[in-house]
Amino acid sequence: MKAIIPVAGQGTRLLPHTRTVQKALLPVGGKPVLEHILAPLIEAGITSITFIVGHLGGQIREFMSSFDSMEVTYVEQTQLLGLGDAVKLGLEAVDEPVVIVLADTIMELDYKNFLQGHNNVIGVVEVDNPEDFGIVETVGRRVVDLMEKPSEPVSNLAIAGIYRLASQLQLRKALDKLRADRVMTKGEYQLTDALKLMLDNGVVIRTEELDNWLDCGTEVTLLSTNRYLVQQLPGGMFVHPDSKLEGSTARGSSIMENCMLIDTIIDDCIIMSGAQLRSCYIHDEIVKAGAQLNGYVTGR
Ligand code: UTP
Repeated sequence: MKAIIPVAGQGTRLLPHTRTVQKALLPVGGKPVLEHILAPLIEAGITSITFIVGHLGGQIREFMSSFDSMEVTYVEQTQLLGLGDAVKLGLEAVDEPVVIVLADTIMELDYKNFLQGHNNVIGVVEVDNPEDFGIVETVGRRVVDLMEKPSEPVSNLAIAGIYRLASQLQLRKALDKLRADRVMTKGEYQLTDALKLMLDNGVVIRTEELDNWLDCGTEVTLLSTNRYLVQQLPGGMFVHPDSKLEGSTARGSSIMENCMLIDTIIDDCIIMSGAQLRSCYIHDEIVKAGAQLNGYVTGR
């Protein structure tokens, strides 16, 4: 089955880091977010991926150049018209299934099971702040309504960012109709609105609750996801073999390649490649690539 992964967005909630690094390639738990996302998909048998690229798309192409056993294609989204528009660019006019995966969340679930069968399935997760997400209303596991960031949510089941659609053509037609009728929500063509259209036309969509959901879309969530991932590594941290720590500790942190930490304590941080830190105490921060910090003391 083919996967579509849209990565054209600018990642404004992760500025300034996303000015120079594509959001999907920011490191978390010692690896780019995208690497965490691809691993279970490849293990579950996905061999063909279409990336929708835009902002810093060249970095995605470069990163994917080592995945030579995969069939990888790229489509440029020249205008950021929303997730629905991005996904449409990757869909073919064939009655074949597709899995759509957003690149800013690491999702833990039974991927093999999710990708099998003939159903339309949306991965969902219970959240405390449903007004900030696309939401589904369900009867049992059957979706009866969907809405994008409702001001008065009728459920707390958020759309997590993985969708298995039985027919690319069916979804494409729904997205074409949104475009033709200029149906936009919050200024964008929404995938949620296309799924709602399919639902209104009698298409059955079911939900699959995820085992775990690790958001990487903001600085706060990227750091908490990093902490969760490194806690599972020996020593509760990740230090790239090319990096050096002298008189330093790095609890709950990821230290990427070619970094040097001298007399420094960092807690729950992501230190991007090439950073040099001397006599620093840093808590809960992302330190940008190549930063040179001396005596920097901070913490939230
Ligand atoms: P988001 O809206 O969460 O991502 O879209 P963003 O735009 O990168 O980040 P913020 O909101 O500005 O901080 C979810 C996914 O869909 C892609 C994004 O790249 C992201 O991976 N997307 C979104 C597109 O490819 N095109 C779009 O027009 C919108």
